[in-house]
Amino acid sequence: MNIGILGTGNLAVTLGSAWTTAGHTLLLSGRNPQHASKAADQIGQTAEAVDPADFAARADVVVVAVPWDGLEGALSLVGAPEGSFDGKTVIDCTNPVNYATGDLIPASGSAAELVARTARGAHVVKALHLFAGASWPFTGPQESAPVVAICGDEASALDRAAVLIRGLGGQTAVVGGLTSARQLEEAAGFVMKIVAAGFNPRLAVPDVDPALLRASQPTDN
Ligand SMILES: NC(=O)c1ccc[n+]([C@@H]2O[C@H](COP(=O)([O-])OP(=O)(O)OC[C@H]3O[C@@H](n4cnc5c(N)ncnc54)[C@H](OP(=O)(O)O)[C@@H]3O)[C@@H](O)[C@H]2O)c1
Repeated sequence: MNIGILGTGNLAVTLGSAWTTAGHTLLLSGRNPQHASKAADQIGQTAEAVDPADFAARADVVVVAVPWDGLEGALSLVGAPEGSFDGKTVIDCTNPVNYATGDLIPASGSAAELVARTARGAHVVKALHLFAGASWPFTGPQESAPVVAICGDEASALDRAAVLIRGLGGQTAVVGGLTSARQLEEAAGFVMKIVAAGFNPRLAVPDVDPALLRASQPTDN
């Protein structure tokens, strides 16, 4: 698959490198062509820096990897408000979080919904914002693979995102439509707050075995 990454920083390089090992082609674009070339070089031979004007047409799927305050500018750069992403799966990885406090920046809604409003016709999925890009690819046993919570309104886009997440070695949990994105983005702020308090966020959520939970539910018959 041709994966277009909008953004040329840390996440673009780490995710791009992981997807390269899964056999995908990476297209990197951003506001600075030199940064795009450098990111493509860091990823390797299957990556290419692409002019923002050509980006959308060449990408089968788009991954947004820019900071919250650059989101609208980056989308405009590649023609998203004019419909360049119409019908395409767009995975939004933005953390619209104040890194110092862990608080969510938008007063309502979410970064993913801003992407959906700005990128006309895009099929937006919130995903891959919670784990560091350097976590991928995960190569351990499947039963301990990271679970990537995702949400979105189009089934085909959720399926496509799940395929890409599997390619990174992760599992996918679909938690709802795109209005659930605010909760997923809050989760990143929650993790930051637990880390700032000096704890491992893995220990801050209950260990629940879904099979045992199902067994304890009353049945209909
Ligand atoms: N790093 C991770 O492991 C990770 C994991 C999950 C989610 N995320 C999220 O992914 C996003 C990117 O993180 P990052 O670590 O890759 O950041 P980064 O290394 O700082 O790279 C940011 C990228 O966004 C571009 N950018 C910044 N402002 C822009 C603007 N106004 N218009 C157009 N492009 C702009 C930068 O371009 P220039 O090079 O020109 O500055 C650069 O290409 C953030 O929302 C972050 O929360 C990151």
